[in-house]
Amino acid sequence: MRRTEALRRLVRETHLRPENFIMPLFVCPGEGVKREIGAMPGNYQLSVDQLVAECREIQSLGIGGIILFGIPETKDEWASGAYDAHGIVQTAVRAVKQEIPGLVVITDVCNCEYTSHGHCGKVVDGDVDNDETLEWLARSAVSHARAGADIVAPSDMMDGRVAAIRKALDEEGYKNTPILSYAAKFASCFYGPFREAAESAPQFGDRRSYQMDPPNAREALREMELDLEEGADMLMVKPAMPYLDLIAKAYERFEVPIAAYQVSGEFSMIVAAARNGWIDRERAMMESLVAIRRAGASIILTYFAKDAARLL
Ligand code: PBG
Repeated sequence: MRRTEALRRLVRETHLRPENFIMPLFVCPGEGVKREIGAMPGNYQLSVDQLVAECREIQSLGIGGIILFGIPETKDEWASGAYDAHGIVQTAVRAVKQEIPGLVVITDVCNCEYTSHGHCGKVVDGDVDNDETLEWLARSAVSHARAGADIVAPSDMMDGRVAAIRKALDEEGYKNTPILSYAAKFASCFYGPFREAAESAPQFGDRRSYQMDPPNAREALREMELDLEEGADMLMVKPAMPYLDLIAKAYERFEVPIAAYQVSGEFSMIVAAARNGWIDRERAMMESLVAIRRAGASIILTYFAKDAARLL
C-alpha cells in the first residue's frame, strides 16, 4: 500500500488543514515597525499597522487564527501594561478586529512581558505569589475581551487562574468568551528564542516554581482535569513535540478540543538545521506538524503557520 503516492494518499490517516493552525504574533509600539527576531528568522516584532497587514495575509491563507503577545513601552513591578485598556495588546486587538473581523484573535494572558523582573506574576519576598497574581490575570482577560478578543489563553501556570478568569469574564458580561488554557505547560528550555522575541526573560531565578517539571505526566493530566473543572473550554499542551505522549493522553481522556504549542525552540531548531543544510526545512516542518496532529491536537500554535498553509 506504500508503493506509489496515490496509494499512500488513499490510506493516509491524518491530514493537516490551514484552519488547524494558529500563528503567534508579537506586537510592539510605534508605526511602520517590522523588526526581525534574531533567533526566530521570518518572525517579527510588529507595530499595530504592520500587524494588521500581516493579519490580512494570514486570513487570506485560510489560517485558523492568531495569538497575540505584547511588548509594552515600559514594564513595571505591577505588570500594569498587561491590564491597561490602552495597552499594546488591547490596542492591537481593537485594530485587528475592526479591520479583519472574521479572523479569530486569541490573546495570551500572562504578566511576564509586562513585569520589570520578567516573572509571570507578582513577586512577594523574592518569589511569585500565586494568589496575588490571580487578580492581574482576571483583569487582563477582561480587558482583552472588552477589546474584542475571541478567546483568552492564560499561560502563566498559576493555580486557580481559570476559575478566577471565568468568574471575572462572566461578571463583566463576557460569558461567551471561551478560555483556552495552557493547562500543561512545562518549564522548558525550548522557550529560549521566544524570550528574545517578547523581551520576557526572567531577571532572576527561573520559572520552575510555577511551570511544570518535564518528567511529570500524571501531574499534567491532573492539571488538565482541574482546568476543565474550573471552566476551561480547550486544553493546551506545551511544548508540543517533546510532549506528544501528553497530547495523545489528553485527546483520549478529555472531550474538548486539544491544542498544542510548537514553541519557539522547536521552530528555531528546524530552521537552524535547515540553514546548515542538515535537514530539509519543508519536510521537517510538515512531519513535525502532522505528528502533532496525529497525536490528537486539532489546534496547533506554530510559527510555521504561514509556510505550512502555503504548502497545503
Ligand atoms: C508567556 C509565554 C511564553 C511562551 C508563551 N507564553 C514564555 C514563557 O513561559 O517563558 C513561549 C512560547 C514559545 O516559546 O514559542 N508566559
